[in-house]
Amino acid sequence: MKPMKRIPLRKPALAVLVALALVSCQPEHGPAATQAAAPSSPWPEVKWPLAEDPALEKRIADLLATMTVEEKVGQLVQGDIASLTPEDVRKYRLGSVLAGGNSDPGGKYDASPAQWLALADAYYAASMDTSGGGKAIPILFGIDAVHGQSNIVGATLFPHNIGLGAMRDPELMRRIGEVTAIETRATGMEWAFAPTVAVPQDDRWGRSYEGYSESPDVVASYAGAMVEGLQGKVGSPAFLDGRHVIASVKHFLGDGGTSNGKDQGDTAVDEATLARIHGAGYPPAIAAGAQTVMASFNSVNGEKMHGNRHLLTEVLKGRMHFGGFVVGDWNGHGQVKGCTATDCPATINAGLDMAMAPDSWKGFYESTLAAVKAGKISQARLDEAVARILRVKFRLGLFEAGKPSARTVGGQFALLGAPEHRAVARQAVRESLVLLKNNAGLLPLSPKQRILVAGDGADSVGKQAGGWTLNWQGTGTTRKDFPNADTIYEGIAAQAKAAGGTTELAVDGKYKAKPDVAVVVFGEDPYAEFQGDIPNLSYKPGNDADLALIKRLKAEGIPVVAVFLSGRPLWVNREINAADAFVAAWLPGSEGAGIADVLLRKADGSVQHDFKGKLSFSWPRTATQYANNVGQKDYDPQFKFGYGLTYADEGDLAPLPEESGITGEQSASGVYFAKGKPAIGLALQLSSASQANMPATTMPVALADGSLKLSAVDHKAQEDARRLQWSGAQAARWVLASATPIDVTRESNGDVQLQLTLRRDSAITAPVWLGVGCGEGCSGRVDLRKTLASLPQGQWKVVGVPLKCFAVAGADVGKLVQLPVLESAAALDLSVSRIALGALNEAEVTVDCPVK
Ligand code: BGC
Ligand code: BGC
Repeated sequence: MKPMKRIPLRKPALAVLVALALVSCQPEHGPAATQAAAPSSPWPEVKWPLAEDPALEKRIADLLATMTVEEKVGQLVQGDIASLTPEDVRKYRLGSVLAGGNSDPGGKYDASPAQWLALADAYYAASMDTSGGGKAIPILFGIDAVHGQSNIVGATLFPHNIGLGAMRDPELMRRIGEVTAIETRATGMEWAFAPTVAVPQDDRWGRSYEGYSESPDVVASYAGAMVEGLQGKVGSPAFLDGRHVIASVKHFLGDGGTSNGKDQGDTAVDEATLARIHGAGYPPAIAAGAQTVMASFNSVNGEKMHGNRHLLTEVLKGRMHFGGFVVGDWNGHGQVKGCTATDCPATINAGLDMAMAPDSWKGFYESTLAAVKAGKISQARLDEAVARILRVKFRLGLFEAGKPSARTVGGQFALLGAPEHRAVARQAVRESLVLLKNNAGLLPLSPKQRILVAGDGADSVGKQAGGWTLNWQGTGTTRKDFPNADTIYEGIAAQAKAAGGTTELAVDGKYKAKPDVAVVVFGEDPYAEFQGDIPNLSYKPGNDADLALIKRLKAEGIPVVAVFLSGRPLWVNREINAADAFVAAWLPGSEGAGIADVLLRKADGSVQHDFKGKLSFSWPRTATQYANNVGQKDYDPQFKFGYGLTYADEGDLAPLPEESGITGEQSASGVYFAKGKPAIGLALQLSSASQANMPATTMPVALADGSLKLSAVDHKAQEDARRLQWSGAQAARWVLASATPIDVTRESNGDVQLQLTLRRDSAITAPVWLGVGCGEGCSGRVDLRKTLASLPQGQWKVVGVPLKCFAVAGADVGKLVQLPVLESAAALDLSVSRIALGALNEAEVTVDCPVK
């Protein structure tokens, strides 16, 4: 990479000053600190809080001396439970296993806590099994316990970080970390991939909600407390005991700074900015003894972080004296120039100690072993990485801990969603709510009235919990998946009932008895990572149903309180204007009842809990104001960072301007065909050997020989789908062509699918090819014959093909110009209403095709 300009820090953030103060009085460095960066470095020196321990170092050296090179390389590799069996662990002696967002015991997103624990026991037993001759080195099991132990049914679900940022309450963060750690331990894991200390600068980013704040100071004020909550306080007996887990501070570095808010993109900033904004969370986290740091998917000035030796080794391990180990992100090493998911010595040489190689672990293990043997990775570097990993395992007492179910709280499932844990989460919900408007002091409401609770967020734990909940995207869950939770409606109903009031739930607002007041709960549907990237900050472009609902109730003379669920501030000026009161509730998690705690008065009329939340992200004035952050020169948001009314304030708000700032239509990313139309930039074509690329702009339309005919049909709305009728005269294709190549490389890393909502109306007698094209002579296709034949005739179904299948079948998924191509040589009658990228659990049927 190009050496970056090291500009001296002008205005050091608070955390940096604290860290500098810490280091100046205690000059001692971490065990394997490498050469420090230049004195003019913008990076603070940090005091690693654990003194070098000669007894520990001796244990590590003794163990290392007995390990074969195969065993050492094994420690550097982490596989995913969906692709790695305990038997593999026994054989390959891998250092770690993770459960990715969509990976569950038995493939069931709602697997029981007992099944999770049994799985943890099985991996542990395999790692300790020396029957094949290997050394017994206990495995580390990591999971995305990012808002509580959020992959497991029954766990306490905390508000996502964006809501926690609004609390400005580091002490409560510590409690949240403690509860998360205990619930994680109860189910057998000892490693949480948290906290995220991203400092999101562009709210279009699909991971904005994983960040505490756009302000580095807020992030810095939380990072240390959260690490201490998860791990216990260094120097206390609680540190890394059986009730705590190791943390992963992520994603190092610059994840929140990518251009246009594009997930896994490029953060193009000078090094001083990188340190001051994006680096702010690391000094306090390291000073608190964070045991792991996760490398980021993004690049910094064009160089992928997984290959960035300067930042991983010189800055993080050297200058900042980080004494834990660096873990990679999901095949993140595969994005380094010259690397693939299964082969990347460069990442280890750059300073990564453990690669997250979920489905690629075997190839990665073999190529790394070969690289060590060929001298492409030095013995010293290998030993240093293994020593760092072993150091963490020893500190955690893993060698003496026994199997996960036999540890301090292993198997104590009553801890999942325990009342005292839920009370912590409920407090967090109360403190995170931000009141943006309260005309005529409508709030707080008397619980003694007749309250209507409406909107599709009113009675949905899935919607209020957001992404990273039971599965990666947080979609497709039902009420019964959350035994320890309250919806927002349930919270309001219980309190109103106790006070002698009444409530009615009507998602569509169509009440039976006219209410005194309505609470309308609406907002974003769950998403995670790049699937949540959006082109601008419009709220549900093209769908004004929530606005219409609020307006209808108002027109009927009913005062309306809007409760907005979202993973980021969005442009909702029209909804704010339409409602009397407006609450930004973020993604509160399992404790929907925390909302009633603040919105409703006590039965005696007094205030139960006042609003405390203050915006930790600036609220946009228009839908195009996505990167207007506190401290900037042109700072001019609708509601400033720090804004948030209380009941003591005069809450009246003059009508806001209603121009969105959007010109022209912008399509949702990852949707290629919907409502009967191709997405902007795509065109429909029919093709055969005798007639190529015939545009299909009018309906109906057919190839001259009648081999393929296209007409409009209805699925959910009038003419929102297309019927494709092949005569069998000759092979013919329906093509969605793109003028500019579409890059789905990042979506192909993982289990993202190309999904077609379709209906079969004929028998399937021959292959039906679904393919993608990537230019002259470049394509990959999959036969849908078996899948289609298995579908009930005449019914709409969502059929998914893992994107990886197209890559395996020969396509270059980095430059697709035909997405997709649907081809048949035989007679066939098929209708299609939607073509889009989607998560595994969003498909009703997944096509079985080779992914490796
Ligand atoms: C995410 C990480 C996460 C990991 C494991 C990645 O895609 O970026 O935040 O910890 O997957 O699920
Ligand atoms: C996994 C996530 C991971 C993502 C990365 C998903 O399949 O479940 O944990 O973060 O892929 O693309």
